Amino acid sequence: MKRVITFGTFDIFHIGHINILERAKELGDYLIVGISSDMLNMQKKGRAPIYSEVERIKIISSLRCVDEVFIEHSLELKGEYIKQHKANLLVMGDDWFGKFDEYKALCEVKYLARTPSISTTEIIEVVRNPQNSNT
Ligand code: CTP
Repeated sequence: MKRVITFGTFDIFHIGHINILERAKELGDYLIVGISSDMLNMQKKGRAPIYSEVERIKIISSLRCVDEVFIEHSLELKGEYIKQHKANLLVMGDDWFGKFDEYKALCEVKYLARTPSISTTEIIEVVRNPQNSNT
């Protein structure tokens, strides 16, 4: 059985999120998702997520393609999470291209193309300043 792992914040769930999760699942049999804690999101993106980690866990774990979720507390622990969950494949969006190659010592690593023209950051900006929207 091929176990696939991926990581992200998945705040304000959108089409890019489900696309990458479904494609990750298609590459194996069992999909494990590490969801950034609220604190980790603060460190990574300099803002608190709109949806709390408890809400994001509930949303992601309700998806048909997701088999297991856990909270990612630290970027430095990625190797530990890969080992703990016995992952055979790490999938990340290509905004991270090359950044996780060090984990090729532990498992296969694949970067998938992002869905164009959508991101959580963009949604937040459009909601805050609708006049800046180009849609
Ligand atoms: N992702 C994607 N396509 C998008 C947006 C995100 O494939 N249009 C992927 C990312 O590459 C990552 C996962 O979804 O593997 C979770 O990304 P996350 O950072 O939570 O979402 P973003 O929308 O990119 O958030 P932000 O704008 O805050 O960076």
